[in-house]
Amino acid sequence: MPVKELAGRLTIKYPGAARAGPASMGENPGVTSTLAPPALCVEHSVNLRGLNSFGLPATAHTLVRIDADADVRRVLDHPVLGPAPKLVLGGGSNLVLSRDPPGVVLHVRVPGARLVAETEQSWTVEFGAGMAWHDAVRWTLAHGMPGLENLALIPGSVGAAPVQNIGAYGLELAERFDSLDAVDLVTGRGVRLDARACAFGYRDSVFKQGGFAGLAGKSLITRVRLRLPRPWRPVLGYLDLERRMAETGNFRPDAQTLFDWVCAIRRAKLPDPAEIGNAGSFFKNPLVSAEQCRDIIGRDPHIVHYLLADGRCKLAAGWLIEACGWRGKSIGRAGVYERQALVLVNRGGASGAEVLTLARAIQESVYGRFGIRLETEPVVL
Ligand code: EPU
Repeated sequence: MPVKELAGRLTIKYPGAARAGPASMGENPGVTSTLAPPALCVEHSVNLRGLNSFGLPATAHTLVRIDADADVRRVLDHPVLGPAPKLVLGGGSNLVLSRDPPGVVLHVRVPGARLVAETEQSWTVEFGAGMAWHDAVRWTLAHGMPGLENLALIPGSVGAAPVQNIGAYGLELAERFDSLDAVDLVTGRGVRLDARACAFGYRDSVFKQGGFAGLAGKSLITRVRLRLPRPWRPVLGYLDLERRMAETGNFRPDAQTLFDWVCAIRRAKLPDPAEIGNAGSFFKNPLVSAEQCRDIIGRDPHIVHYLLADGRCKLAAGWLIEACGWRGKSIGRAGVYERQALVLVNRGGASGAEVLTLARAIQESVYGRFGIRLETEPVVL
């Protein structure tokens, strides 16, 4: 959207020059250091309903568009914006807004897609954090660099992908991750983190962890680099993909076919946020010990579960929720999706509080019946 067309936008001039970042953190390509930095775009009283995939109502008192690392540093240097609390907003697809965010919302829009290294073993590609994740997947395929197709059609932005270590159809982002650039929201310093520093886990990373060692709320991801192994090998282990192979008789799908299958499977099971507000899976699939798993299966032999290499067991939260009778049910205007009980939906005009009431009722009944506490997947504000 052209900047001039944004309603209610107030453009303020940054009073000082931007601090220089490290050489690896290129800023505003095409703008030389002899030119004044572009104006910081600040809006007030911004309705966030269109900026979160659940379509929940909330208002940002102040919203700043982040197009480059330098914009973050300008915000931090600003006498009013600098000390205010900050919420980093990407595609808003993993967020439950139950209140107006305090302070400043930093809306990450950093663009860009490029190949940064090519060897016989891999391609390394870099994306601006503001790019839509699905567009990044399409970009790699269009440029003959497969490897992300199992992660097709996941809503949200590239910058949000490492935060929750997105995963689907047998592949997690961590398996394709190279490194990322982020800006420290206190010091304004640019940092580069490798996979180890990101501490990826199942739908987890250092960016979701609080406390001294965690980075939750402390940094803003500006660029992500992914390494796509060569030669390409399809990831075909997931049940839904095995079914497709059996149905089509194609047991050696190419990357484009796999991409098309994943898109079709997702469209059949998951609501399109453009039509029905949602944040994907609302709960994580719980991990339990082998002993707990034996106990639960003893009581409920049909429970859907997956054995992990370390002896633990992952239970299908969708099955647990469905077994408690929640599939298709609603509380107020928040509901449980008819085709996938792990997904909560906005049936039209729901508030964040209604979504959380429904989520708590589900957690209580799953705990009551199975003794398992379901953990929410999206960030709740
Ligand atoms: N199931 C039910 N009833 C339901 C839903 C699921 O019985 O209503 C059982 C079925 O047996 C099904 C099994 O659960 O075979 C697994 O369901 P599905 O393949 O739909 O996967 P999921 O475990 O529910 C996870 C991810 C999804 C990802 C899919 C595919 C989490 C929290 N969710 O869902 O990720 O797309 O696998 O890989 O791990 C997301 O994170 O937002 C997301 C959509």
